[in-house]
Amino acid sequence: MNLLEIKNLKMDFGKDAGALRAIDDVSLAIGEGETVCLVGESGCGKTVTALSIGKLVPTPPAHYVDGEILLNGRDVLKMSSRQLREIRGGVVSYVFQEPGAALNPVFRIGNQIKESLKLHRPDLGAPGTASARSGMARHRAGAVPGAPSRRKALDAEVIRLLKLVGIPAPESRLRNYPFEMSGGMQQRVMIAMALASEPKLLVADEPTTALDVTIQAQILDLLSDLKQRLGMAILLITHNLGIVGDMADRVAVMYAGQIVELSPARELLRRPLHPYTRALMASVPKLRGDADRLSAIPGNVPRIGNFPPGCRFAPRCPMAKPECSSKNPDLVEVETGRFVRCPFWKTE
Ligand SMILES: Nc1ncnc2c1ncn2[C@@H]1O[C@H](COP(=O)(O)OP(=O)(O)OP(=O)(O)O)[C@@H](O)[C@H]1O
Ligand SMILES: [Mg+2]
Repeated sequence: MNLLEIKNLKMDFGKDAGALRAIDDVSLAIGEGETVCLVGESGCGKTVTALSIGKLVPTPPAHYVDGEILLNGRDVLKMSSRQLREIRGGVVSYVFQEPGAALNPVFRIGNQIKESLKLHRPDLGAPGTASARSGMARHRAGAVPGAPSRRKALDAEVIRLLKLVGIPAPESRLRNYPFEMSGGMQQRVMIAMALASEPKLLVADEPTTALDVTIQAQILDLLSDLKQRLGMAILLITHNLGIVGDMADRVAVMYAGQIVELSPARELLRRPLHPYTRALMASVPKLRGDADRLSAIPGNVPRIGNFPPGCRFAPRCPMAKPECSSKNPDLVEVETGRFVRCPFWKTE
């Protein structure tokens, strides 16, 4: 069984005549310990897809019209609010683009991580139940919230997490307020908070976009290292195909609310099949070579509610044929493990 299985998901913003489809028949699975990158230009639907895993898009305005989101085999869309609270920051944790906006400016970072631990790790400090996770186990073990052993265990865990994400001198750093830290250090704190609940799946939505290039590389290295050490799965969202090679096992390319290509990362980078993926790859800045040859994709991503008939990429596609604007092609497995939403993928 896959850790996550999104099946034929359809989600609208608005209702009835005013409904605009933002996620249109998206299917995506992530196995235990697997890293999947979700790429695509701005407005393609990456964030709404990622947020849907924790049912974090407010309903309304969102309406889940069809499909399933199975996390450990249980459909998130059918969960009660209590079950949703348990999985959010439990099974699945999020790291977002702007750490400065996500951290609370008036609390010390150590206390913010501790709050997350208090919520998700009732076992900490309970005598003899170091690995027990449920409140019931804690109750049986006789642990008292706020007891010295609990407080000590929480403090020790905050320091361990800060060390894990590479924050130097964590014993003194935990007393810092967010503004006393650089953007890169703040993002490390956000990752520590996300790890506090020992998630099976870490969703990182453009986690390095707000950082400068050197720090970006450090944060990506940190994520790879944590994945190795903790064995968690990662859904990494980026508009930069350049970072995919170092991070991903598989890549899903999204365009106008749909997945247009899904493939093992190495194969996709060696031989992209969908014209949109090819165009995206041509727009990746190369470290070496001719900077002038960097090509942006002409035109814009269509807005939801304004998708063209037929293939949604056709108006921007250099290979488009007349029939492309009449039928939206299906996502088809054209080689083992390689899915493409374009019948002309073979054309060079
Ligand atoms: N609350 C909302 N109400 C209406 N439309 C929304 C809402 N949130 C997102 N959308 C629309 O859904 C589409 C997908 O948005 P989403 O934020 O998922 O894109 P994205 O791929 O993450 O883009 P970016 O790279 O800029 O983060 C966009 O057209 C956006 O305008
Ligand atoms: Mg986004």
